[in-house]
Amino acid sequence: MAIQSKITVHPVPAPAGSKADFVAELRGADLENLSEHDFAVIRDALYTHNLILFKGQQGLSPRAQYELTRLFDPTVTTYGHGKTLDAKRSVLHPDLKTIPHQPQVQVIGNGPVASYEGLENITLKHPHHRTFHKTPISDDEDRDNTRFYRWHIDAALYDLHPPRVTSLMAVSVPKTAPLNLKYDDGTGDELSVPRGSTAFVSSYTMYDLLSEEDKEFARTTKAQYAPHPYIWMSGAKSRSDGLGMVSEGLELPYTELPPIEQEKVKILPMTWRNPVTGRLALQVHPSAVEKLVLKDGTVIEDLKEVREIVHRLQRPGIAPELVFPVDWEEGDLAVFNNHGVLHSVTGSFLPEEVRIFRQCNMAASEGPLGPLPLEVSA
Ligand SMILES: [Fe+2]
Repeated sequence: MAIQSKITVHPVPAPAGSKADFVAELRGADLENLSEHDFAVIRDALYTHNLILFKGQQGLSPRAQYELTRLFDPTVTTYGHGKTLDAKRSVLHPDLKTIPHQPQVQVIGNGPVASYEGLENITLKHPHHRTFHKTPISDDEDRDNTRFYRWHIDAALYDLHPPRVTSLMAVSVPKTAPLNLKYDDGTGDELSVPRGSTAFVSSYTMYDLLSEEDKEFARTTKAQYAPHPYIWMSGAKSRSDGLGMVSEGLELPYTELPPIEQEKVKILPMTWRNPVTGRLALQVHPSAVEKLVLKDGTVIEDLKEVREIVHRLQRPGIAPELVFPVDWEEGDLAVFNNHGVLHSVTGSFLPEEVRIFRQCNMAASEGPLGPLPLEVSA
């Protein structure tokens, strides 16, 4: 058979003692000039492994990053959060800066940057868990220890559909000593991570770990997200494991949110089906979920109860041996299945440590695939 693509797929072995085997490195890709056959290989690898890495992409243009990201959903052009990032009260607001000539691509990172892709004299700030967690690590332990900042899906979760994939490119990476990541949730769990690592877990594994009863619940229950969730949650604080919020009644009341259009509120299946493998992912944004809609139509409205249920289902899936912390090198381009993994920022940097990343995703053309009717009734 004729060779139709030069791209080869190399599964990345899980780190020592880990079972995080959902990553592959793709070699031989010319990402500025992809053929149909190349993309077929890339798409298959993405949905088979769920996190794919291309090394040595220092020269990749924001345009090419956008075009690659868009190939997964070719009709879309709108950034995954639309324009809601501009909302000053959104918890996402400080973290992202838009590239003027490629508005679907955001610059994130840390430190002062004189000039980058049309952005002049900007200061980037790596999100620090102390701004989001209820009880942060103490100042004297902070340089050597970290937390999962916020486990999430990249999605507006109001009006727009969750992006299918996100691409993340490491442009500048300060290399310093690894950090000890603490869960601080009473389990004693901890994990060594490279400083500034992005942590990933497989939501397919998260689903597979559930009991049969919980799988049935997850297949038949829908997660309802708060309207304007990132503004709604802005007064509340996160659990120490970054997996959802503490319930203290600090969410903004609807009357303090931008106008709410009921048809834009997102009610999504708790399990999302992989379009290539058919596997189900337990895919819930734990800090944005507000209600659960059960199969008989009953709605669980007690926010504390909703969060306890979601946390109980998700927490086994972020166990230390299931986490893949990416050890970023300059020129790395990661593309991940945003419908099948959760991810989190980790780490902290000194104000002068310069780190530049580019992130791109687009609101999807349609909602995520839910479980098949057969699976729901099984
Ligand atoms: Fe993200």
